[in-house]
Amino acid sequence: TTAMAQGASRFPFEQIAAQTDGTIHVAEGYEWDVLVRWGDPLFSDAPAFDPETGIPTEGSDRVFGENTDGMELFSVDGREILVVNSEYTNNDINLMGRNVENPDEQEDDAAPASADDVLRLQNFQGVTVMEVAQTGGAWEVVVDSPYNRRITHNSPMAIDGPAAGHPLMQTAADPSGTQSLGTFNNCGSGRTPWGTYLTCEENFNGYFGATGEMPTDEKVAAGYARYGISADGNGYNYHLYDSRFDVTAEPNEPHRAGWIVEIDPSDANSTPVKHTALGRFKHENAAYALANDGRLVVYMGDDERGEFMYKWVSRDVSEEGGDTSTLLVEGQLFAATFADNMTGEWVALTPEATGMEPAEIAIFTRTAASAVGATTMDRPEWIAVDPTAAEAYCCLTNNSRRGATNDAGEVLTNAGGDPMAVNAPNPRETNEYGQIVRWRPENGDHGAVDFDWDLYVMAGNPNVHAEGPYAGTENINAGNLFNSPDGMQIDTTGLIWIQTDGDDSNEGEFEGMGNNQMLAGDPETGEIRRFLTGPNGSEVTGLTWSSDRSTMFVGIQHPSAPFPDGEGVLPRSSIVVVRRTDGATVG
Ligand code: FEO
Ligand code: CA
Ligand code: CA
Ligand code: CA
Repeated sequence: TTAMAQGASRFPFEQIAAQTDGTIHVAEGYEWDVLVRWGDPLFSDAPAFDPETGIPTEGSDRVFGENTDGMELFSVDGREILVVNSEYTNNDINLMGRNVENPDEQEDDAAPASADDVLRLQNFQGVTVMEVAQTGGAWEVVVDSPYNRRITHNSPMAIDGPAAGHPLMQTAADPSGTQSLGTFNNCGSGRTPWGTYLTCEENFNGYFGATGEMPTDEKVAAGYARYGISADGNGYNYHLYDSRFDVTAEPNEPHRAGWIVEIDPSDANSTPVKHTALGRFKHENAAYALANDGRLVVYMGDDERGEFMYKWVSRDVSEEGGDTSTLLVEGQLFAATFADNMTGEWVALTPEATGMEPAEIAIFTRTAASAVGATTMDRPEWIAVDPTAAEAYCCLTNNSRRGATNDAGEVLTNAGGDPMAVNAPNPRETNEYGQIVRWRPENGDHGAVDFDWDLYVMAGNPNVHAEGPYAGTENINAGNLFNSPDGMQIDTTGLIWIQTDGDDSNEGEFEGMGNNQMLAGDPETGEIRRFLTGPNGSEVTGLTWSSDRSTMFVGIQHPSAPFPDGEGVLPRSSIVVVRRTDGATVG
């Protein structure tokens, strides 16, 4: 009989209250400290961070990137190598024209106005590889470590898989269609059994724009519509100062973004690889499992309203010390369908099922998944695989358009025309709280196509909604309120760590939820407890552990002042370390 069956708590901490202030709170018996902030040096020749103006363009690729997100830690020759995504930029604080005198009057939509601005923003994003170590009990970045590296929007990448070399991947600078520059909007993370990092390209569309005509080629234009590539872009203005991002000149450049990218943390000179076999969409993260026969399985979500969940299954098996070269190249991509009877099926995206060629399935994966009737989901964010049981979880963060109708009374669709009527795993109209779906593959085999599913939790607010679906499921109570689950990892004990990226107004529908936070959930009892609260304005995203499990690394993205350095200076996204005061393991 296990401790669990005897009813012992799986939680090593007592819940904390919701918070609404400018700092971090953790459960009693734990402590936190800042490890690294945007702009901190990776190399001793990096420019100093000016508390009023930040980092100049010269050397902006020698510092820790902005807006920390997914991360993973690797033990390489006994050294601790932390690999971290920098998702996007806060242009209200990192552009040189900012309103330093009156920061409250700074325009939120400040936009790059020069090639110099664009280059600086390109350098602040991508991936940071850095060695970290404990000195005198405190974790620090090892400045000038030979492992340290910045991968930016201009770093050389290789492209493999079915889309590599296809005409839709070719550009003037790369007529081969096999080499591109940069990795974009690096959101969630993943790792492989062989010790490499997976960075996941999410809202890549926003970096592209048009100085003239938009492409008229039918397939290209349809892809732009499905993926949201527009003439104006999302305010980065890259296309005005860097012709690679001008789709009038380079209509295929957007096809070279939106991928899972593999990075070797043990070699700072290695070339990252974009694996097109795993599909092109707004990738959240990549969570691996092994099928019972040893094949590699990678679960992935596409974070946009009404988009889909996917899994990759390799052709060959993953064996310790074995050949890994085919495992993210040769295999089958599937999209998820969920049935009302709590079963589901992974449907293979084959040429026969989709009517598309393999390269086009890779480049226009959303269209392929629509063709097989994949289930529209409420913005799939992180997926986590339970290392202690044959099950996995996906955060469905929210969906303001679920079940909504247009003026003609028709239910709204995703950009591919797939209706977003309420369905079994996404059961609430205008879902503002989010839910976590869990699935158990048939025969406990992640390689199986069939699965059973349930909702682990529907977030809600029983203080505002006395009953009904917006009160949330039974495991939601006045003490653990949250909305918009997003980041997620399951530790070696099976605790589910849930991070939020939601409405932190603490008002109305969200009263009592406080700032964004990190909670832990027991997979068996369903109990959820709040463990950590973030500072005002921030999202809590990214979680990994030191090799000895004494330390959690937690990401704080887009905080507002005074975090972390006080009032009157620029706020900075940061990674914090969280430990037990007694030094015991933390997952
Ligand atoms: Fe970058 Fe879907 O979060
Ligand atoms: Ca996210
Ligand atoms: Ca989110
Ligand atoms: Ca974010």
